Amino acid sequence: MSERYAVFGNPIGHSKSPLIHAAFARQCGAEISYEARLAPLDGFAGGVREFIAAGGRGANVTLPFKEQAFRLADQRTPRAELAAAVNTLVFADGQILGDNTDGAGLLRDLVDNLGCAIAGRRVLLLGAGGAARGVIAPLLAARPHTLVIANRTIDRAEALVRQFAADDRLRASAYAQLAGTSFDLVVNATSAGLSGALPPLPERVFAAESLAYDMVYGAAAMPFLAFARAQGAARLADGLGMLVEQAAEAFYLWRGVRPASAPVIAMLRATGA
Ligand code: ATR
Repeated sequence: MSERYAVFGNPIGHSKSPLIHAAFARQCGAEISYEARLAPLDGFAGGVREFIAAGGRGANVTLPFKEQAFRLADQRTPRAELAAAVNTLVFADGQILGDNTDGAGLLRDLVDNLGCAIAGRRVLLLGAGGAARGVIAPLLAARPHTLVIANRTIDRAEALVRQFAADDRLRASAYAQLAGTSFDLVVNATSAGLSGALPPLPERVFAAESLAYDMVYGAAAMPFLAFARAQGAARLADGLGMLVEQAAEAFYLWRGVRPASAPVIAMLRATGA
């Protein structure tokens, strides 16, 4: 009998995770089923427990349930604690383990797929919500020269800096204060693009050889990436690679096998899936 996995979200209809995990399973000759499960907004925990009772072995969690998944987990990995959110659940021995593979997924895409050096570089992170918080520790672990968190609501950026206060490479900034500073890597972790908007970046924040990276993919990445192109960013990337890499990390957690992500990223790009 095949092992059962699922992704929980609301909405969930457009999730690429079933496609990605089916491709990983084919690569590894693994017998798994992976389904998209729509949980009611007030029924996430019940949905997960139902799935466990039906034999579920693990699950991914997407918007808007990552904080609820954090609370639901009996145990959490250190990186999930730092992110204060959980995107991967493992069900074993009657316990729920919560992990967060988003930050590892971003770093793998940046470093392995895009060949982006981070050590010694100036990095700008846009946004101070859940998406931003989950990638701060892994970005710092890659030893940038500086990591500046810019946010519209400066208090939220300052709160994140206080949380990681031991690290003096980290600082908060309002968007307007960025004028006159340029960065080698600019990561958009805001949700602005989902409504076709752009964070209010001043001109010239992109250094000559910079990479502009949007953590979302498809149309939602366009406002930021179009701005970055017009501002002279040398390279542009959306978050499709991060999506596949966070999935690969979850697959590894569940199955102990690391699937090859490159062919899956290529397949998704080719089919426009
Ligand atoms: P997520 O979990 O996706 O990070 P969130 O916690 O709601 O969601 O955070 C959304 C982030 O996008 C915040 O940093 C938000 O800025 P504020 O904290 O100032 O609200 C940012 N954001 C959303 N729309 C934006 C816009 N049009 N311009 C700039 N930042 C925006």
